[in-house]
Amino acid sequence: MGFNVLTAAEAASFIKNGATIGLSGFTASGAPKDTFAALAQIAEAEHEAGRPFKVDLFTGASTNKYVDGALSLANAINRRTPYQNTPDLRKRINAHDAHYFDMHLSELAQKLRYGFFGPLDFAVIEAVDVTDDGRLVLGTGAGISTTIAQLAKHIIIELNSGISKKLEGLHDLYMPADPPYRREIPIYNVNDRIGSPYLYVDPKKVLGVVHTNATDGVAPFSALDETSEHIGANVCNFLVHELKAGRLPKEFLPLQSGVGNVANAVLYGLAEATEIPPFAMYTEVAQDAVLDLMERDRCKFVSTCSLTMSDDAMSRLFAHDDEFCKRIVIRPSELSNNPEIVRRLGIISMNTALEADIFGAINSTHVLGTKMMNGIGGSGDFTRNSYLSIFSCPSVSKGGCISNIVPMVAHQDHSEHSVDVLVTDQGVADLRGKDPVQRAELIIENCAHPDYRPLLHKYLSLGKGGQTPHALCASFAFHNAFAETGDMRNAEL
Ligand code: COA
Repeated sequence: MGFNVLTAAEAASFIKNGATIGLSGFTASGAPKDTFAALAQIAEAEHEAGRPFKVDLFTGASTNKYVDGALSLANAINRRTPYQNTPDLRKRINAHDAHYFDMHLSELAQKLRYGFFGPLDFAVIEAVDVTDDGRLVLGTGAGISTTIAQLAKHIIIELNSGISKKLEGLHDLYMPADPPYRREIPIYNVNDRIGSPYLYVDPKKVLGVVHTNATDGVAPFSALDETSEHIGANVCNFLVHELKAGRLPKEFLPLQSGVGNVANAVLYGLAEATEIPPFAMYTEVAQDAVLDLMERDRCKFVSTCSLTMSDDAMSRLFAHDDEFCKRIVIRPSELSNNPEIVRRLGIISMNTALEADIFGAINSTHVLGTKMMNGIGGSGDFTRNSYLSIFSCPSVSKGGCISNIVPMVAHQDHSEHSVDVLVTDQGVADLRGKDPVQRAELIIENCAHPDYRPLLHKYLSLGKGGQTPHALCASFAFHNAFAETGDMRNAEL
């Protein structure tokens, strides 16, 4: 190989305090590994010596224990966007040790190119194969790699032999021109390919190659609980109902599925809902459940930004690569989540809320209104532009002490204008064509837990008129009751 071979410590030593770094990958999938474990050690040593050491990180989405995990433990992250889900980073963010700005994932690459966040010093990119002239086969997540490779002054390549080279050919890398030169993005079908399977980097910018041998380390999901199963079944029954009513085309439409336990449960529900014909997915994350759906021929094709699958699922996929690889395309996040394409293809979006209010507004990000959980991710990219937008969540959390249906969300990520359908374990509220009071009655009766229905009806009756009759003095009575007594059922209205 023509490039310098570096140890992880040598590669990390190029990165100085205050550096801005773009990373490959999307979720733990395709994110670099050893360079950042080494960088965390440098940061710790610098801090021990009484010197500052923090870096700015721009990624596709969340990362892994080596990047967000190790660097947060070392308190070495200054700015961070667009999404994260690591407990240690969450703590740093909520303590303002790390300055996190939560963004729609589709927008990050272009906003980096527009120069909104300043220049990029480094791109650290995981590849499973590389040639001397700078042709890379990326790992399991495409994220923002095309953009950071173009923008960064220096590039470090992590060549990972722990991930299968059979990924070659799965990527479809394409970067839209920036305004005023942007044209339509020519994806008209989920399986259209418009770009290159390879990322070409300028060899002159490459500082060297770090050899790694680590899997993405995606944890498998735990077994479904009864609540998640009910939610999954309710979403599927609703979709079957829509199909029979002719409001969805008989061929069905491509599905997007969010992240987390509830989203996973919905996908498992789709495996059983055989009244729905085999479907395609146009989504940002393909979890284990997507492979199960492919194995059962329920999912015909998936366009995704990452294969966020456990080691076991990845082995199953590559053991039958002849069958599965032709049914997968991995695209950069600005294509997988692109509003233009989501609107054109008529995506059915299915995302998860932390809480919803009785008028249909959604909080996906802030626990009890203040503490950042993960981030908005791609939920806004899809929800706002979909053919049909569905949000789901359990009706209650924390053993019933928290109602996930509240009078007013304590933080709003998606307004009622973007939410067509709300689903909990209790049932479905179809909000289309309903005014705010009609929506509230439906949500309380169909989605709220029975323990909370009288309180929510009482709140609605306290409103003194207006199109959306909030009783502002009591809007956060549920949240206050939880803060003061540990149980929203003690809300005083
Ligand atoms: N108030 C306080 N805590 C709440 C809550 C509420 N209203 N609702 C849920 N929680 C807690 C749960 O109790 C659980 O806590 P625990 O980990 O201590 O048990 C935690 O939040 C997560 O709940 P869970 O039901 O396991 O959620 P999930 O795995 O289905 O994920 C989101 C739900 C909302 C956190 C996740 O989907 C997310 O980050 N969404 C935003 C980004 C997104 O939608 N991306 C996809 C776009 S393609």
